[in-house]
Amino acid sequence: MGESATIRLVLLIALMFGAACAQLSPTFYATSRPNVTSIVRGVVQQARNKDIRIGAKIIRVHFHDCFVDGCDASLLLDYADRIVSEKNARPNLSTDGYAVIDDVKTALENVCPGVVSCADILALASEILVVLDGGQSWQVQLGRRDSRTANSAGTTAIPGPTENLANITRKFTDQGLDTTDLVALSGAHTIGRAQCDSFSQRLDATNPNPNIDPTFLQTLQQNCPSGSPTNLNDLDVKTPDEFDNSHFINLQNNRGLLKTDQDLFSTFGSDTVAIVNRFASCQTNFFDAFGESMIKMGNINLLTGSKGEIRINCKRIN
Ligand code: HEM
Ligand SMILES: *[C@@H]1O[C@H](CO)[C@@H](O)[C@H](O)[C@H]1NC(C)=O
Ligand SMILES: *[C@@H]1O[C@H](CO)[C@@H](O)[C@H](O)[C@H]1NC(C)=O
Ligand SMILES: *[C@@H]1O[C@H](CO)[C@@H](O)[C@H](O)[C@H]1NC(C)=O
Repeated sequence: MGESATIRLVLLIALMFGAACAQLSPTFYATSRPNVTSIVRGVVQQARNKDIRIGAKIIRVHFHDCFVDGCDASLLLDYADRIVSEKNARPNLSTDGYAVIDDVKTALENVCPGVVSCADILALASEILVVLDGGQSWQVQLGRRDSRTANSAGTTAIPGPTENLANITRKFTDQGLDTTDLVALSGAHTIGRAQCDSFSQRLDATNPNPNIDPTFLQTLQQNCPSGSPTNLNDLDVKTPDEFDNSHFINLQNNRGLLKTDQDLFSTFGSDTVAIVNRFASCQTNFFDAFGESMIKMGNINLLTGSKGEIRINCKRIN
């Protein structure tokens, strides 16, 4: 066997072994550290008392993290030697909530240093906050490890609000997520805010096919006078801070804020239309699907076993 063939064989075996080991578990910390969940809950509950939007901020960080090189907390890294942070990359993330993640990390390090990864904190905090916002629990899988690299250029994998449905769908299938996952996960837009900049192209009177309810359009135009690109608007006009299925009912009524969300319902012939209708008519259906899709998203391209590290500080590699 030639040298390169041997190397390839070793790599193949390593890949197979890696894949077999890349398994998360809901009880990863349970035997040694039964209180991880309650420590995380304590910190995020306090944070939520001060900022009702914290759940929206953190679940969005988790989503963006997972879409760039997998759920490895790469998004949390600040600029440093050899680290080009993802935080300020295009498409501009406008992500927030990092201070609360640091507070959770500090609380965990005080009790069990070097055990709980920053990537797992994002997954756990997302679930806890969705439940606090009125959503349904799911069994969070744990055991992720943190990256030692960031991938600023890789942030192009994150979907943008002006892309068409075909491109958005492709970005999800690239991650192993199907159209049910796309519609379910977009349901996270039942909470949180968007800046005018994220949808202002829809407010242009010459837009030939805006799919916006005229009254809603007027409200948005008032909220977004020219020169105010960062004004904030509720993603869910009906129940802005409640995790429920009203986002999908909004779409049925042409009251989706982002073009990409409205497209899920307004694209004639798309298989997403029936899924929106199903979630709009049955909240339990949405909740079940959301939990399943969050587990799938949380499984993207993991570092497990001895890969990566457990960061001591989420902003820096050890
Ligand atoms: C389907 C493709 C998606 C697109 C195009 C998209 C786009 C956006 C945009 C443009 C904003 C507003 C950002 C701003 O103006 O500052 C936003 C906010 C948000 N997104 Fe998405 N998103 C998508 C999927 C998701 C997914 C899968 C999740 C989570 C599972 C998510 C969770 C959120 C949350 C919670 C907010 C509000 C954040 C806050 O209040 O700070 N999004 N999204
Ligand atoms: C874990 O939680 C239990 C009950 O909430 C508490 O009695 C115990 O002291 C906690 N242990 C640690 C190590 O924090
Ligand atoms: C993009 O990110 C930078 C750095 O966080 C921020 O200063 C800037 O305001 C952001 N731009 C938009 C349009 O959100
Ligand atoms: C869709 O993706 C293609 C290929 O990356 C790109 O050329 C095109 O501009 C995108 N369209 C939209 C509307 O984002």
